[in-house]
Amino acid sequence: GAPVTIDISKIESGQMVRFAWRKLPIFVVNRTKEQLADLPGLDPRLRDPECKETSQQPSYCQNAWRSIKPEWLVMIGICTHLGCVPDYYGQIKPEPFDPHWKGGFFCPCHKSRYDVAGRVFDGVPAPLNMVIPPYHYIDDVHVRIG
Ligand code: FES
Repeated sequence: GAPVTIDISKIESGQMVRFAWRKLPIFVVNRTKEQLADLPGLDPRLRDPECKETSQQPSYCQNAWRSIKPEWLVMIGICTHLGCVPDYYGQIKPEPFDPHWKGGFFCPCHKSRYDVAGRVFDGVPAPLNMVIPPYHYIDDVHVRIG
């Protein structure tokens, strides 16, 4: 599949926008400072907080945010359980879920939860963190995926 270039200039803080690459859903989230601050505190309940399964992201995203720029998550939005497309929960959290889950992504098929870096929270039933595709910045507002 060919690379695609996406324009992220209109994505507001806290918002997610969906794009497509190779017929895959690409989730791009402009993460707030609050969302970023929550990530380290979730570690004890993440299945693989450090993303040791290195096929889950390119080497340049092997960091605490799983991204090139901390605020910008660029991820393949496919649940690693059976391939459904999870929903984004940014500011509003679904009820009556665990208050320790700070939001991120929730898969409606079998209720897997992920944090806002796409890491599996509490590990049931999704086996792996969601995948970060290869990408790079062309300039401040254009990202090339693939
Ligand atoms: Fe997402 Fe099963 S496909 S939890």
